[in-house]
Amino acid sequence: MFKMPQKITSERIVLVRPYPPTFKLAEEVFEKVELSRETLQKWLPWVPGTKTPEDEYTHWLVNWAQQHWNEGHGFAYLIRDKKTKAVLGAIDLMQVDEVNKSAEIGYWLSNDAVGHGYMTEAVRALESVAFKLGLNRIMIGNDTENTRSVNVPKRCGYHLDGVLRQDKWSEALQSFRDSNVWSKLKSEWLVEQKK
Ligand SMILES: CC(C)(COP(=O)(O)OP(=O)(O)OC[C@H]1O[C@@H](n2cnc3c(N)ncnc32)[C@H](O)[C@@H]1OP(=O)(O)O)[C@@H](O)C(=O)NCCC(=O)NCCS
Repeated sequence: MFKMPQKITSERIVLVRPYPPTFKLAEEVFEKVELSRETLQKWLPWVPGTKTPEDEYTHWLVNWAQQHWNEGHGFAYLIRDKKTKAVLGAIDLMQVDEVNKSAEIGYWLSNDAVGHGYMTEAVRALESVAFKLGLNRIMIGNDTENTRSVNVPKRCGYHLDGVLRQDKWSEALQSFRDSNVWSKLKSEWLVEQKK
């Protein structure tokens, strides 16, 4: 079974498995979701269903993060400031496919952590570990109009494979949305490492 480490450290941040799944931890994350609700709900379908710390605990922390981790299909990390330990957001390595050696990265930042390059750093740290552990392709998907999100794979050197036309319905935006599909291959990552 594919396994990821519980903790990944980089220059300014640390990615940590949200474990053990305590209610206190759920409250800490929920506080950031609440602070950023307006921005997050525009792009992330789980936000409207996360109305209380109890929702955060049950839906995300227990049902999503722990279950997928134990099955080896999805690895959720909190992004914390290395010095202050404050929660900055979250990043997931999800849809891990052991046959095709592929996975997808998803992410969000708290409003007060946007604009500092934390997500760029988090993606680079996470992909490095995943490629080293044997994955061959990492995909990032985003709404073509979600400029901040689009800039993350661009900045990290991902290739735009194409656009899926109107593949998602957005309740928040009340429209069918186009999605970018970005990818990076292990061979491309290896070339970057030599630069
Ligand atoms: C998508 C999201 C994570 C991007 O956050 P972000 O802060 O723009 O991305 P980064 O953390 O990589 O930071 C890049 C910004 O920091 C700046 N920056 C400062 N120091 C930097 C550094 N050392 N390295 C890189 N960028 C740096 C960059 O110039 C850029 O700012 P700009 O876009 O104003 O020019 C965030 O906007 C978000 O959570 N959005 C809502 C949820 C969402 O859409 N999730 C994705 C769904 S697909």
